[in-house]
Amino acid sequence: MPQVSLVVPTYREAENLEALCDSVEVNLRKRKISYEIIIADDHSPDNTIGVVASLTARYPVRLIQPLNRQRDLSLAVLDGIREAKSEFVVVMDADLSHPTEKIPALVSTLREGVFVLGSRYADGASFEKGWGLWRFLNSSIATVLAWPLIQCKDPMSGFFGLCKTDLPSAESLHPIGYKIALELMVKGNFDAVIEIPIHFKDRTRGKSKLNLKQQVKYLRHLRRLYLFKFRLQAEIVQYGLVGASGFLVDISFYLVMQAFSIDHLLARAISFWPAVSWNWGLNRLVTFSGRRRRPKAKQWLEFVVTSAIGFSINWGVYSWSTSNIDFFSDNRLAALILGIFFASIFNFMSATFLIYSNVRGQNKLL
Ligand code: GDD
Ligand code: MN
Repeated sequence: MPQVSLVVPTYREAENLEALCDSVEVNLRKRKISYEIIIADDHSPDNTIGVVASLTARYPVRLIQPLNRQRDLSLAVLDGIREAKSEFVVVMDADLSHPTEKIPALVSTLREGVFVLGSRYADGASFEKGWGLWRFLNSSIATVLAWPLIQCKDPMSGFFGLCKTDLPSAESLHPIGYKIALELMVKGNFDAVIEIPIHFKDRTRGKSKLNLKQQVKYLRHLRRLYLFKFRLQAEIVQYGLVGASGFLVDISFYLVMQAFSIDHLLARAISFWPAVSWNWGLNRLVTFSGRRRRPKAKQWLEFVVTSAIGFSINWGVYSWSTSNIDFFSDNRLAALILGIFFASIFNFMSATFLIYSNVRGQNKLL
């Protein structure tokens, strides 16, 4: 078994493959590292098949091509990793942008639970100056948008290594487009991401396939990753905002009805209904929009019932604590907050596990 499997996704890279194989051979043989190269090609219309066939006599290289799926860099990389014979896998571009002389450093850093990144932004890294303003801006904005998702400087890198056993399961992965390393880092259960500084060179042959369509795909990919990583936080914040807006609805009805000389107790009893319905509807539309749709009438009724229980908890905590605990009888506002706190936990739990339960097509969404 080779010590490392190199996975190289390709589309129209036939003219780069010989130089790539040669450069890998020179740099790995020097260090006595055995390897295989897997060319994960998407049926390039440029005789990639013929070129790889001619290289197999000289280098441990083989070609894989998918049977039926759309052309996609991330999917090609995953195919390649699954084909790898070695436990250690390094992924790199075919166009010689990534320095093959850094492969040994990636391999020697690799161990189970570690994701190694060939980084253009780590200390000591550099890249060729040829970047136009447009490409530079594009790349920097894309990079900064991904920072909250993962603690590393170059989450966009296409040069990385991992252990095959650490590959997240196929069901949890839904990569689209170019950012497979980001997908793996966010969804995988890695103990550490280690960045190795590299010098990134511009390609000298062939063209980049990174186009506007890929950049739009990236934004969709980002949204999914944010939802994956921060779903609970996003739901809690939205639930809180909806609750606050419902409070305003409640007060408005209560005051308006009294302006029409409706008794304040009756006004209080009535204003509960528009407020609770408002909360239910907004939570359905916004907070839990990713959940499976359930029949409205039933769901509304459940929401009303649990809200009533929540209100009882709120009131119960208030009255119990003010009559039994000195601190709270002296500080009724604290008792009120305590009541709201416990009721909110109950309300959020019943909303998330009962009323809006069943995440809609979770795998598809994330
Ligand atoms: N199989 C397959 N299918 N390979 C593809 C596809 C595809 O649809 N699209 C691109 N590739 C291959 C290319 O042939 C190349 O080997 C590698 O993926 C990277 O593609 P480039 O077209 O050279 O992309 P780039 O240089 O603009 O982007 C590089 O830098 C980005 C960050 O700036 C890549 O390393 C990206 O992964 C990286 O995000
Ligand atoms: Mn490139």
